Amino acid sequence: MTTVLVTGGFGRVGKHVVEQLVESGYKVRVFELTDRREALGLHESVETITGDLMVYKDVLRAVRGVDIVCHLAAVFPPFFFEEFRLFDVNVKGTFHVLQAMKECGNAKKLVFASTDAVYATGCSLDEYTSPLDETMPVWPINTYGIFKYMNEVMIEKYARLHGFSFVNLRFFWLMDASEMIDLLFRARNYMDNIVPEDREGLHPDDIVAPLLENGDVFFEHITETRDICQGIVLAIKNTGVGSETINLAAPDRLDYTKYYEIVASRLGKPCRRVRVKGLKNYEADIRKAKKLLGYSPEFSVRKMMDEALASCRRGM
Ligand SMILES: NC(=O)c1ccc[n+]([C@@H]2O[C@H](COP(=O)([O-])OP(=O)(O)OC[C@H]3O[C@@H](n4cnc5c(N)ncnc54)[C@H](O)[C@@H]3O)[C@@H](O)[C@H]2O)c1
Repeated sequence: MTTVLVTGGFGRVGKHVVEQLVESGYKVRVFELTDRREALGLHESVETITGDLMVYKDVLRAVRGVDIVCHLAAVFPPFFFEEFRLFDVNVKGTFHVLQAMKECGNAKKLVFASTDAVYATGCSLDEYTSPLDETMPVWPINTYGIFKYMNEVMIEKYARLHGFSFVNLRFFWLMDASEMIDLLFRARNYMDNIVPEDREGLHPDDIVAPLLENGDVFFEHITETRDICQGIVLAIKNTGVGSETINLAAPDRLDYTKYYEIVASRLGKPCRRVRVKGLKNYEADIRKAKKLLGYSPEFSVRKMMDEALASCRRGM
């Protein structure tokens, strides 16, 4: 039986990955800060090793004896500005995973959770004129993105030197469908950067379609958590795929102007288009994931939105 170590296996993404791996017949070991297996209702066969990524001997204990490592544990916002902690967990922690793989020699594959922040999506300094594919130069604009890119490079070099394969998966902004209205369409998310004329009389709960500062349509790319999990599990199962960096994103991009009026009318909220400083359009190219992994994301923006609106109505 193949044993997979999932670091961060009780997190938002990890718990679904663990469930799916168990269902697919893998033996799963989770490495986490605390044991939440029972609270999350995960299968009793799931083994938990508690420890901290920052402590090498903890990581070594977790890696010893496994065949595949799926490295999801990391910190990110709200720790964005705690850059020393970000470095310790996300860079030193990944170094510990790689060093343990080298020392133990048993794990032959590493699947790693990287991010669209390596391209600097949304508020990048650069304009993107075509969908972002994996060959494009990366220009992260924050330490989270820089450190994830450093991870990708470390992984590639260690894998080559020490004879294991890897799949670096770049997740485009992941969220549960039920969160998308609050995270994306509420005025409060943009308030500080809305141009002053468009901000007048706006209530934080109002529904908005953010536009580029020049008034052009703004689009970006998100992903439903379940589609990210599909991609991760495919990367683990697909033994023929190795030494690759692959984008994971929704099947279509989000163009706010197409949806904001529907959201507002269903919620009975006022809505308007607002120009936002600093935004840049971007969309993901997911052809590589489809071709190499057989990735087939189910959650289009429309499907996510319908689910989000249904959960808003239930919550009313
Ligand atoms: N959420 C997003 O939008 C997004 C986007 C791109 C990439 N990612 C990446 O995907 C991965 C999973 O994200 P998530 O949303 O499930 O995050 P999450 O915070 O829900 O889960 C991360 C897990 O890692 C564990 N962890 C944190 N620090 C640890 C440490 N020092 N030692 C051991 N375990 C530790 C936490 O307990 C947590 O359960 C992360 O690597 C993240 O950087 C997330």
